[in-house]
Amino acid sequence: MAIQVEMDGRLFNLHTKDSTYQMVADQHGILLHTWYGKRIDGENLADLIFHADVGFSGNPPEAGENRKYSLDALPQELPSDGVGDYRESCISLVHEDGSMAADFRFESYEILPGAYQVKGMPALYDGAQGADGSMTLVINMRERASKVAVQLLYGVFEEENVITRALRVENRGESDVILEKCLSCCLDFQFGEYDMITFSGRHAMERGFERARIRHARQEVGSRRGTSSHQYNPSVILCGPDATENFGDCYGLCLVYSSNFTASAQMDQRGQTRAVMGIHPEHFSFRLKKGEVFDAPQVILSYSDAGLARLSHQYHKILREHMCRGKYQFARRPVLLNNWEATYFNFNKEKLTALARQAAELGIEMLVLDDGWFGKREDDNSGLGDWFVNEKKLGGTLKELGEEIHALGMKFGLWFEPEMISEDSDLYRAHPDWALTIPGREPNRSRNQLVLDMSREDVREYLFERMTDILEHAPIDYVKWDANRSICDIYSHVYTGDRNGEVYHRFVLGVYDLLEKLLTGFPDLLLEGCSGGGGRFDAAMLYYSPQIWCSDNTDAVNRLSIQYGTSFFYPVSSMGAHVSAVPNHQTGRVTPFTTRGHVALSGSFGYELDINKMTEEEKELVKGQIADFYKYYSLTHEGTYYRLTGLNERFCAWEFVDEEKDHALETLVMTSREGNPLPVHTTVKGLSPEKTYRCSENGHVRSGRTWMNSGLTLSRVPREYESVLIEWTAV
Ligand code: DGJ
Repeated sequence: MAIQVEMDGRLFNLHTKDSTYQMVADQHGILLHTWYGKRIDGENLADLIFHADVGFSGNPPEAGENRKYSLDALPQELPSDGVGDYRESCISLVHEDGSMAADFRFESYEILPGAYQVKGMPALYDGAQGADGSMTLVINMRERASKVAVQLLYGVFEEENVITRALRVENRGESDVILEKCLSCCLDFQFGEYDMITFSGRHAMERGFERARIRHARQEVGSRRGTSSHQYNPSVILCGPDATENFGDCYGLCLVYSSNFTASAQMDQRGQTRAVMGIHPEHFSFRLKKGEVFDAPQVILSYSDAGLARLSHQYHKILREHMCRGKYQFARRPVLLNNWEATYFNFNKEKLTALARQAAELGIEMLVLDDGWFGKREDDNSGLGDWFVNEKKLGGTLKELGEEIHALGMKFGLWFEPEMISEDSDLYRAHPDWALTIPGREPNRSRNQLVLDMSREDVREYLFERMTDILEHAPIDYVKWDANRSICDIYSHVYTGDRNGEVYHRFVLGVYDLLEKLLTGFPDLLLEGCSGGGGRFDAAMLYYSPQIWCSDNTDAVNRLSIQYGTSFFYPVSSMGAHVSAVPNHQTGRVTPFTTRGHVALSGSFGYELDINKMTEEEKELVKGQIADFYKYYSLTHEGTYYRLTGLNERFCAWEFVDEEKDHALETLVMTSREGNPLPVHTTVKGLSPEKTYRCSENGHVRSGRTWMNSGLTLSRVPREYESVLIEWTAV
């Protein structure tokens, strides 16, 4: 049984195939967190908790004479603010009288079949008709003095080794209550030391891997930019200091949310570690009137006792199978050509159709028309919001252009940036109050644009009407949904006064609402998420777009670290990756065409360069790369992915193994090369020890066991930036 309840409904075990998550409601109704790790048999582990009289850690009233009972020391599921736990809390309330205590105690529980959903937000869903049998545990908690209730929601995906958490706050009292903080998840570790792995970066250099020991000083990543951000990803790993790719305890926390977030970890005074994750409490405050409910986003937890590789495999599987959806969840996506780095704003019908004709000849399957096709948009200073086709620039209607591209046997894709508005636009001139600006203050501009107030229904209605009109009147198969600035100047003309603390959250709910409506209206549409590349690469966006443009940086060498960092949580099938021109537009680096292809093949594959300027030799290479994309698809998009090296080595290598373990593919890129070079040796992973494989590099035939134990030495050291593909085929 995935959910095992004992002790008259006070001991809860959530079992997955290889892990158990345990909670116990103690004699005072505090919901203790007693275990998360390797699978156990459900015995009450509350006796692992060591009770001591800790100076300056007070005792709640019902502890009476017992000075050894303190909320400040106990591992808890819902640490609350203002009642004696001085560590990071999950929930903070302001009551009508201005008091700030939040003291939640266990009341009851309920077990429900299937996966719970979170209102207005994405969450993991069950397979067809709930066939794969996930389950939900709901624990009802009640604030001691007020009538605020919390429902803790736990999902168990047994086969996938995934536990999810989310929570709902309900004001059952008469008077308003203000939610000042509402984090979705707390994970307390009583024993052991941990490292925290985070993924940080900047625009065009996203998701760099960082690992640091958790100490007493609080370690936090987060975003207050209104998107999950280029700077920090809403996914973190806690692992033992000795954990590696193949060894050790690893815990993943992945937030299903695309706006402001916090994820932190800290060692407390007694050496216990607390990790929390949820909506960033800064610029957040939510007023709940009588009967109103607040839903906090889901956190996807997973545990691996066999290192980081297994943890990644668990996330890849759950996100691909229970978060991505729609026609293109599993269907092969078209190889695309995006005109952005080919033309930027400088295009007309002739240029576009010339690109499409050449693309069709080479076997490219879709032309994506990027920025610049609408309103007055000759550069990035104007036009956003005016989603009317610029027929003069396109030399006809979008329908005609789309049909011409379809006639070549290709699909047609279009770029939008719905959430933004240029001051130099008809939309802004008609509705200046639709932009997020604060009355009496001049707004911050970024890329010379402002942000629409997506919390407003009228704004969303306008966008829906415009997008629908365009999608209905032209044959469009794909939409790239971009968002090119961080948000500030929060002020809503609808949620005024102290309700401005709700705007960031309502904004992202508005974005989800529009995405949902669009996909309901156009279920066959392939969406590619984008926010200046990878500024909104998160689990929630995968619910709408099974692929996300991984980074505006198309340099094959920089892409190694970007795709490497992205791979810890997100599947390869979700990472938009394109072959672009050299010298690379972002870095000026010159890399071989083949290397650019090999790096992009480890992603949702496409091109982004003027293919009419390619040499005949390059055109032949394109045909070969597309053939490789088909040939290796079941490995790269459906297989198991292994990181064979870290970064900062002389080369970067990774490997895919297909489900049957009949076929494996290693990609290796030489990132630096010295004179008198040292050998290049890599491990080999994921083969079946019992099968026999031939290696394409040297033709040797060995057992999977031998290959995995001996690894492979290349017969020659590749040149700098050169890449090689190596296959193992079962014989
Ligand atoms: C940022 C995106 O990441 C690019 O690929 C491109 O679509 C530009 N925006 C267009 O403005």
